[in-house]
Amino acid sequence: MCWHMRTFKPAIAISISALVSLSLAGCGDDDEDEAPFGTADEVSQAETLIAAAKGENYDQLMNGWELFPGKINPTTSGAPHGNGFASIFVDSTFAGSSDKANPDEDSIIIKHNLKSESLTDLDSITVMVKMEAGFDTEHKDWFWAKLSPAGEVQSNPDNIKLAGRIGSTEGEKPGCIGCHSQDANDYIVTPFPAAAFGSGDEVKKAEAVISAAKGENYDQLTNGWQLFPGTNNPTTSGAPHGDGYASIFVNSTFTGSSDKANPAMGSVIIKHNLNSATVTDIDSITVMVKMQPGYDAANKDWFWAKLSPAGAVQENPDNIKLAGRIGSTEGTKPGCIGCHSQDADYIVTAVP
Ligand code: HEC
Ligand code: HEC
Repeated sequence: MCWHMRTFKPAIAISISALVSLSLAGCGDDDEDEAPFGTADEVSQAETLIAAAKGENYDQLMNGWELFPGKINPTTSGAPHGNGFASIFVDSTFAGSSDKANPDEDSIIIKHNLKSESLTDLDSITVMVKMEAGFDTEHKDWFWAKLSPAGEVQSNPDNIKLAGRIGSTEGEKPGCIGCHSQDANDYIVTPFPAAAFGSGDEVKKAEAVISAAKGENYDQLTNGWQLFPGTNNPTTSGAPHGDGYASIFVNSTFTGSSDKANPAMGSVIIKHNLNSATVTDIDSITVMVKMQPGYDAANKDWFWAKLSPAGAVQENPDNIKLAGRIGSTEGTKPGCIGCHSQDADYIVTAVP
């Protein structure tokens, strides 16, 4: 089947002319010597896509991209991509697809394979684009590409450019398709989280925030933290957190934010919910972290967590770990987002 002139959604402006001639590759002019990938048009398509995605903060793809469901940035990543860490971004078409395992046509997944935990330390960029039905019927119609950090398509050992239907002809290696097809359902290897929150990534993040905050006087967070503006320690606190008293701490990113109602990325609010007016008498710890744009675009990009006094993430009645985008699926309760969204900035305590 021949596929037709097509274009990506406007957020990723792809040159249509590049795509017109690309259609030839799929129409098969019976040139048997031609590799199944690496045509000039496929290369140009991959490079145009990456050039369009690059914004001011390319390492974090903040210009309209979202993080892969359940992922924080960076996420841990196994072989063969990167060195233990990666950033996985999806475009709005993917994010809006009702079946993410078989996302809508034009969906894009970009994976920054990192050499270290640093987001700017790119080793390579791998891309998957869901093409029109018929582009590669046997393999779920994915377009594959591998690029340098600068956005240039790389070559395999046979000097064929890595863009297109990259199958088993990629040198000696299995090729993108050879590996990804082991996930027969969708060719997307990264697992989708079972719930809207509570992914392994998110639990790890919550516990890391608390263990980093714990100092000698953890009950008073005297190691660089400050009290939420205008509050005492303890402060009086209403339902549902704690029993009338709480300690609310903020980190220096929050303190340094000019607009405290919409604090800068990286801001952390830690609330010790107390059983009594004694600051060491902690019932639970609730945390809010302002994440990068695209973590939870609909809800001000807050990350939520609830932990035990010892710093272990707690579970809801459905045994889902309370870390991440904790919305209304939290048992029968409203969830952090359900309650906090009543305040436009999601911060309920009044900022003086
Ligand atoms: C040796 C097996 C293997 C090969 C070859 C391979 N991948 Fe992957 N890929 C994986 C695994 C495993 C993941 C899951 C995430 C992780 O742990 O890095 C993944 C994740 C990805 C992702 C994130 C979405 C997803 O499916 O999880 C993209 C995008 C991606 N690969 C693109 C490519 C491209 C493009 C190529 C070819 C240039 C390629 N991959 C070749 C194994 C492979
Ligand atoms: C039933 C409504 C409700 C739910 C559910 C709720 N909160 Fe709150 N939260 C509040 C109120 C009200 C305050 C204001 C301070 C107070 O009186 O305790 C608050 C305060 C906070 C604060 C201090 C910053 C602020 O916004 O004032 C944090 C941090 C916090 N909550 C985290 C969480 C987390 C994490 C969850 C989910 C595990 C959660 N909250 C669920 C109502 C709620």
